[in-house]
Amino acid sequence: MAEPVQTPHAFPTRIFSGIQPSGGLTLGNYLGALKRFAEKQDEGIETVYCLVDMHAITVWQDPVKLRQQTREAAAGFIASGVDPARSILFNQSQVTAHAELAWIFNCVARMGWMSRMTQFKDKAGKNSENVSLGLFAYPALMAADILAYKATHVPVGEDQKQHLELCRDIAAKFNNDFGVDFFPITEPVIEGAATRVMSLRDGTKKMSKSDPSDQSRINLTDDADMIAKKIKKAKTDSEPLPSDLEGLKDRPEARNLVNIYAALAGMSAEDVIREHAGAQFGSFKPALADLAVSVMGPITTEMNRLMQDTAEIDRILGEGAVRADAIARPIVDEVYDIVGMIRSRKG
Ligand code: TYM
Repeated sequence: MAEPVQTPHAFPTRIFSGIQPSGGLTLGNYLGALKRFAEKQDEGIETVYCLVDMHAITVWQDPVKLRQQTREAAAGFIASGVDPARSILFNQSQVTAHAELAWIFNCVARMGWMSRMTQFKDKAGKNSENVSLGLFAYPALMAADILAYKATHVPVGEDQKQHLELCRDIAAKFNNDFGVDFFPITEPVIEGAATRVMSLRDGTKKMSKSDPSDQSRINLTDDADMIAKKIKKAKTDSEPLPSDLEGLKDRPEARNLVNIYAALAGMSAEDVIREHAGAQFGSFKPALADLAVSVMGPITTEMNRLMQDTAEIDRILGEGAVRADAIARPIVDEVYDIVGMIRSRKG
């Protein structure tokens, strides 16, 4: 094994993040990811955003629905403020560097590392003999997504933290095994009031597109009536809101609604509590419903408008893929060199 290089050079700041088009987008995706993607872009940082269709097929996807969901998710990104002229927006399978680097990382990552992934254990459940090999290798593809761009920062929700730690382990092992300082040790960016939006039916479970109950989540496609209804029906306890966050400690449903309010209003959870101390849910829920409708309504309308022209969405994704490829191709070519592959083919 070669000696690692001792003088790490600085990597220019570049943001990468992705969302699976494996179902409709939820308020969790919006607050934990999309809203923050748009903010990063507005801070003038180079941003690369990806619809990870190859991750989606680690569990069965109907091909017709997958195409539809990928376009809808792209519309969701744009409606949430991701501007395809300022950010790179594309779907993963159009840039082959992801799959190529994922293979190399399959050979860097260790079985033991993968076996410890809680998301794999949750998804596989008692059925681990019968899930796809892709589901097991999923985090290596995720590391490839990030490192094919030498991304330095990855904004995500709390649930992706362990996968990002694995990405750092893969980068460090690659650098160490080959004695290079090639990949950055990427920083997860998990910030804001809504890094973990919980189910509206159970404050101990994450809000998720795969929850069988539609009442558990707000979808980006829900209309104003539906949003208001779901919030008014959300599970809560019978106590009024306390006067500080400490008072929400053992009240997961109440805590969740306060966090959602804070993230939608761009306030801290402390400020929400201060403003609504002593309020009953009978008045807090309608205030939250109004706020949610005023923020989400325009996004849903814009998504529906964008979905009228799917050819334009496909064009945007294709153009994004060309720009993404221009960054990732030379990086992955260099990886082949480092690993010792002969690259003599012309054309
Ligand atoms: P996915 O598609 O499950 O979710 C996309 C993003 O939304 C966030 N999120 C949430 N945030 C707060 N509360 C919630 N209830 C909630 N639900 C989802 C997720 O944390 C995520 O940021 N493995 C990833 C996709 C991926 C990726 C990547 C992400 C593939 N390659 C490279 C970052 C970088 C996933 O399944 O996310």
